Amino acid sequence: MNNSFKTFLKHTAKDFHNQSVNPPVVRASTIIFKSMQHIRKTQAKAQKNPIGGHYDYGRQGTSTTHILQKILTKLEESYHVFTTPTGFGAVFLAIFSVARPGDEILITDSVYSPTRILTQDFLKEFNIKAVFFDPHDLKTIEKNITKKTKLIFVENPGSNSFEFQDLGKIISIARKNKILTAIDNTWATPYYFKPIKFGFDMSIVSATKYYSGHSDVMGGSLAVNKKVFNKVKTAERNTGLRLGPDDAYLITRGLRTLDVRLDRHSENAKKVAEFLSQNKKFKLLYPYKKNSYNFKMWKKYYSGASGLMGLKIKSNNTNSVRKFVNSLKLFGYGYSWGGFESLALHQEYRETGNRKYLNLSKDEHLVRLHIGLEDPSDLIADIKQALKHLK
Ligand SMILES: Cc1ncc(COP(=O)(O)O)c(C=O)c1O
Repeated sequence: MNNSFKTFLKHTAKDFHNQSVNPPVVRASTIIFKSMQHIRKTQAKAQKNPIGGHYDYGRQGTSTTHILQKILTKLEESYHVFTTPTGFGAVFLAIFSVARPGDEILITDSVYSPTRILTQDFLKEFNIKAVFFDPHDLKTIEKNITKKTKLIFVENPGSNSFEFQDLGKIISIARKNKILTAIDNTWATPYYFKPIKFGFDMSIVSATKYYSGHSDVMGGSLAVNKKVFNKVKTAERNTGLRLGPDDAYLITRGLRTLDVRLDRHSENAKKVAEFLSQNKKFKLLYPYKKNSYNFKMWKKYYSGASGLMGLKIKSNNTNSVRKFVNSLKLFGYGYSWGGFESLALHQEYRETGNRKYLNLSKDEHLVRLHIGLEDPSDLIADIKQALKHLK
């Protein structure tokens, strides 16, 4: 029987040995063997089959991390998935697996600010140059390709400015020029878009967000195809960037309901977006306007939209924008997203990646909303009452 992925998520990782519906958390630094011969046998197996789950030391993971990797590999339809202690760790691992001193990488200009700082500033210390391209003008990719270009790194959509890029064109430019590709797919997750199947070499998801879904764990995943597997494996081994078993367990538990939660986030966000799109005080940054380029690009490549959106607000009265945000009663003020709850943030200049792509003038503000799993009519009523403060 060929069950769907939704069914697989509910039935996988049962533990018949311990008679528990969920897998045990296996915590280990030292792994005990019956004899030296057993150690050598395991090491030989690990050499022969590096994704087979053979461990001789806790840094390589335990059965708990291996189960999570297997589930994610199926979800991504990839060759393998590496799991990291944070989502940002997966961004770091992707770049440092393939870029070396003297190389250049091309990167979406509207990436979220930690990725911007890593690529723009920190890479310089390793003599790796980052060149930023305009997400809506892919000629800026072709124009900047040199013999040194190793990687095209895409964040789609930009998680503050929400522009959708022509991913098919990016892949064909990369293939024509024999350049590797990576995408930060945290907004959609492979539930709505499968980058490795589509042609990317590497795909990052912050498991802190929708995978775990309950705002109580940090983690990341880096899915790869066969072509880059060895490079990433080598970098993983040499950086020690591996997820611990307790976090792996929580992420596996969250994944059981990924489909149900994302479907509801999407449904709720659509209702809130319909309400927000009627208000002239701001521009909604979310794929909803059918004749827009962003909508066309989203529709072309994605099977759904998650719960994160932006509002570009025009107002000379900054205090009134703050008051609007502070008056929201059902939205928490805090970083991150992808949990079950709604969140709001008034983004400051330093947090918006490259301000240019938001076209934010002095009297414009960005408010980011994460639409959670509450009743959407309550969320809309809450936004309605808070909007009274916006001048
Ligand atoms: C688009 C995107 N990628 C990666 C990350 C990094 O994830 P983490 O916070 O798990 O390190 C974030 C976190 O906010 C993000 O928004």
